[in-house]
Amino acid sequence: MRIVRDAAALAAAVSAWRAAGERVALVPTMGYLHEGHLALVARGRELAQRVVATIFVNPTQFAPHEDLGRYPRDEEGDIAKLEGAGCDLLFAPPVEVMYPPGFATRIVMSGPAEGLEGTHRPQMFSGVALVCSRLFGLSRADVAVFGEKDWQQVMVIRRVVEDLAIPIAIETVPTVRAADGLALSSRNAYLDAEARQKAVELYRVLTHAAERLKAGATATEACGEAETRLREAGFRQVDYVALRSELDFSQMEKRIGPARALGAAWLGQVRLIDNLVI
Ligand code: PAF
Repeated sequence: MRIVRDAAALAAAVSAWRAAGERVALVPTMGYLHEGHLALVARGRELAQRVVATIFVNPTQFAPHEDLGRYPRDEEGDIAKLEGAGCDLLFAPPVEVMYPPGFATRIVMSGPAEGLEGTHRPQMFSGVALVCSRLFGLSRADVAVFGEKDWQQVMVIRRVVEDLAIPIAIETVPTVRAADGLALSSRNAYLDAEARQKAVELYRVLTHAAERLKAGATATEACGEAETRLREAGFRQVDYVALRSELDFSQMEKRIGPARALGAAWLGQVRLIDNLVI
């Protein structure tokens, strides 16, 4: 696997592949890779002849009080995992390559960026839209692959690509879970043993809420009950449990058509998110 850190080397590698008629899949990540990320690489290999993974802990999607400084990092371990997964190239740029001197563009998001994560982490989707647009432009990949654990992020990225007419397809991969059901996340590294045991309740409670919603309960009933259950299970704060359309992320009071139940809650200082297809 080649490792490149500058934009010109990335562009040259991708142009050479494309000139040879090969499709290129992009897997954007912030590193500290787990099986969920490797499933994205595996999907990329199905969709294209070449897979480019990126590792960049993007400062523009973190608020000043958030965990940018302590976000877990292990580049050596990540390189070994990507090599094992058959990734062709790792783009791991320093911040000045992603945001060079003079960089002045910002993206203001509405639509699917509103509510839920957009309410609790107001800076996040503008930063995600910005960094993904830049990665799409720098790589000129044919397709980018994202995990469904961050479903609202997927909706935002699809919106940006359509609105800005960025020539890239967006593919998603279902959430990869631990044996007990906890969604894999790099931030699970913050959980101590006791919190790790409790963390699975987010999945269990969402599963129950999704079943109730499928059976015809209203969002007020099923999501309200889920929030109470999470507090009883030891979550110190529940940011939301919500029902949203899977197609356009609009709010629903009753499930009509494809939908997802989404939740975010805090165990101590650790914020967990998850969602389930209904
Ligand atoms: O999901 C993530 O890891 C990040 O939000 C992403 C898409 C790599 C952008 O920094």
